[in-house]
Amino acid sequence: MASSAAAAAAASPPQRILSQDELKKIAAYKAVEFVESGMVLGLGTGSTAKHAIDRIGELLRQGKLANIVGIPTSTQTHQQASSLGIPLSDLDAHPVLDLAIDGADEVDPDMNLVKGRGGSLLREKMIEGCCKKFVVIVDESKLVDYVGGSGLAMPVEIVPFCWRFTAQKLQTMFEDSGCVAKLRVSAEDGEAYVTDNGNFIIDLYFKKDIGDLKAAGDAMLRLAGVVEHGMFIDMATTLIVAGEMGVRMGMK
Ligand code: 5RP
Repeated sequence: MASSAAAAAAASPPQRILSQDELKKIAAYKAVEFVESGMVLGLGTGSTAKHAIDRIGELLRQGKLANIVGIPTSTQTHQQASSLGIPLSDLDAHPVLDLAIDGADEVDPDMNLVKGRGGSLLREKMIEGCCKKFVVIVDESKLVDYVGGSGLAMPVEIVPFCWRFTAQKLQTMFEDSGCVAKLRVSAEDGEAYVTDNGNFIIDLYFKKDIGDLKAAGDAMLRLAGVVEHGMFIDMATTLIVAGEMGVRMGMK
């Protein structure tokens, strides 16, 4: 006769490890629970936000949501949302949004973010800066102690004019942090990656942390060729993190 432990194991087989994309989907679906009919919604960009937009489209189709207006943060999101039949508009028509849902590349314990490795940081910052509530959705691999200190890219959108000059200035600005500035190139043709706004992206790589994030961001914005940087400081109001142990939520 099987032992009671063996019987219990047979009744509940070991749980499968979830893939990163499955975790992203769990976080995204949780965020969509905040969406109510009649809302003006900021629609983020990237593989996590894509799940949220799919879910909003599904709920609209099922009649569980109505009268939603989406403000897309990229041409890619615009295409996805319009293919799902989500009514779309822009900041000119809707300067105040009820809620935005978006992913992030890094999140620190104060809910400061790095965004823009997907290339849409400018529109994301414009739109998510106008929301009453900004819900950030990530899998737990995005959690860091200090944004910009992960050794991964900190994106900065710059004008193409004399981009080498601007890249050099940025590198020099953060030389104490061992900064290396690299022009982002497109994986398709090896040419400079061009944003939805016709700009280039410089990815900054730091060997050490950059100190006061706000001061660092302000210094970048004082450089005339810089359009926007990828640090989203004090913007997120809600954080949803999906991990192997379940979903956690933090609020400001
Ligand atoms: C795009 C972004 C994305 O939100 C960020 O890159 C996260 O992407 P993903 O959800 O695919 O991991 O900032 O500009």
